[in-house]
Amino acid sequence: MESEKGTLPMNEVYNPGMNVYSEIYRKSLEDPENFWAKQAEILTWYSKWNKILDDSKKPFYRWFVGGKLNVSYNAVDRHLEQHRRNKAAYIWVGENGEEKIVTYDGLYRRINNLAKALLNLGIKKGDRIVLYLPMIIEAPVAMLAAARIGAVFSFVFAGFGAGALAERINDSKAVLLITADGGFRNGKVVELKKIADEALEMTSTVRNVIVIKHARNDVNMVEDRDIWYHEIVGDSHTYVEPEHMDANDPLFILYTSGTTGKPKGAVHSTGGYSVWVASTLKWAFNPDEDDRWWCAADIGWITGHSYIVFAPLILGLTSIMYEGSITYPEPDRLWEIIEKYRVNILYTSPTAIRTLMKFGEKYPQRHDLSTLKVLGTVGEPINPAAWKWYYEIIGNSRCPIIDTYWQTETGGFMIAPQRGLGLPPLKPGSATFPLPGVDPAILDDAGKEVRTGEKGYIVFRRPWPGMLMTVNNDDERYVKTYFSKFPGYYYCGDYAVKDEDGYYWLLGRSDEVMNVSGHRLGTIEIEDAIVATGLAVEAAVFGKPDPVKGEAISAFVVPKDANADRHELISEIRKRIRADLGPIYVPDEIRIVKLLPKTRSGKIMRRVVKAVALNQIPGDLTTLEDSTSVDEIKSAIEAFK
Ligand code: WT7
Repeated sequence: MESEKGTLPMNEVYNPGMNVYSEIYRKSLEDPENFWAKQAEILTWYSKWNKILDDSKKPFYRWFVGGKLNVSYNAVDRHLEQHRRNKAAYIWVGENGEEKIVTYDGLYRRINNLAKALLNLGIKKGDRIVLYLPMIIEAPVAMLAAARIGAVFSFVFAGFGAGALAERINDSKAVLLITADGGFRNGKVVELKKIADEALEMTSTVRNVIVIKHARNDVNMVEDRDIWYHEIVGDSHTYVEPEHMDANDPLFILYTSGTTGKPKGAVHSTGGYSVWVASTLKWAFNPDEDDRWWCAADIGWITGHSYIVFAPLILGLTSIMYEGSITYPEPDRLWEIIEKYRVNILYTSPTAIRTLMKFGEKYPQRHDLSTLKVLGTVGEPINPAAWKWYYEIIGNSRCPIIDTYWQTETGGFMIAPQRGLGLPPLKPGSATFPLPGVDPAILDDAGKEVRTGEKGYIVFRRPWPGMLMTVNNDDERYVKTYFSKFPGYYYCGDYAVKDEDGYYWLLGRSDEVMNVSGHRLGTIEIEDAIVATGLAVEAAVFGKPDPVKGEAISAFVVPKDANADRHELISEIRKRIRADLGPIYVPDEIRIVKLLPKTRSGKIMRRVVKAVALNQIPGDLTTLEDSTSVDEIKSAIEAFK
């Protein structure tokens, strides 16, 4: 990490002092019952809970037990009565410059019409449906239509390939898939329906596929299975009574990579999750009624679920939603959108900032960014150089940087400066302080709290409303992954340090999960896919530090056919990974080696591969089976230099 750590003087307007924060934070821990009872009023409930927190089956915590609500009602219906009927819910911008404004009334109409169509297809409360969609209005519409009738959706990011989609359909046992003909990315069409067709060959639970016409590329419609969206979703004023859901009915499942090959389906609740995302957005960013909020993530990730769809709609905000690449057609696309739509709050990732920073100041300087008042980041620790550029060049030294630390599993922000409660002086690279109700600690290997300034594992000592309920189909894995390293505490899988002023600094993953452009990718998942091509006997994958992506994917591969042409082999492996897992999983570098370092029990030693590849000292090698493989990796690197 860069050493620059000084605090930055903040504009007084944004720094009312931390007294409000300290008071609220203290209350949230001292009297959680009253605190959350009051905070839950951020939603409209059909009936109130009889217990705020049931912790009788730890670590399966249940919040707002017995409470009844519907998230689509909270996101849309109630705003129609609160003078927001004609307010823009979304200002949608297509990559080709197309623009669409959808009001709360328009969103309401679309959701009801789709909800009706889903019911007509026989979708019932509790059914699972998979959404494989680009960044189009129908994405939030589908999420909320599902929520309206009590179906549990699982959104699969449109950058995933057929194998990854099939795996998620199978694990969630989805009966319906909603997709589009295609989506736009860097001026090209990604043929989603075609990929979905391939995935469906590997699954058996899906009865119907609803296809949205968007990119207008040719698709193959399978009779009796595939239906055009526009043919079943009318333009009429249908009304579907929202299901009265239990606070602990699942709202959605979102898959995330872990330390084993199979991604985990984080199951999020209806009540606790909704309270959490709406509250955290308000605390951290404190948007005004008239602000234009732009969370420039993809809806396919948790950032998009929580802060493009649920939180902003529950709060009744206006969001910008952009379909394409932020550097297309020119590296000023993001700045152009901010100027054109007079965006007030921008929330993006360090990797996006570094990408745009690379093109230089001249691109943002072509645009009037003076409407911006708050900036946010998420996905990985932000390096001070990127922080400074964001603060000075984009925010004109007027906008606080809200660095939000959280995870798919946490549902919403856990550690972040909180503009709504009084900002602390910011330190570039520190996510600062925990949100109300969040009780972090930093532990050593023995489970003892480390001293100030010492690095350790960050854990949360008590449950919070937005936490995942379990791992889909796998309660045991839930307990094992999150609550067994330090029994009783939620284990995040990140290193952190707390400084002498009490600020938290996140220091990256403490497990073998990579963080590539702010996305969590499993090393073993990619190794499995490489071996599954049939072209390799084994593979070791690790994250290699990268100035833009944070980490780049590096793979060392032992080929099946030792005499195969290396270049052909590498390009074939890349092609197959792209089709199977998706483009974000394609290794940035693939090296062919004769063997890989393994322990005597046969486990591939990724840390040794990584250390040798990065020219570091590989550490303890006494358990290594055959030390010639270390030289092998070294010479493979030499050969490619
Ligand atoms: C992992 C979670 C949360 C939505 C995006 C990623 C890293 C995330 C920060 C931050 C330092 C961060 C952690 C975390 N991370 N935000 N502000 N500072 N690290 O969600 O795919 O579930 O990944 O991203 O390593 O565990 P995710």
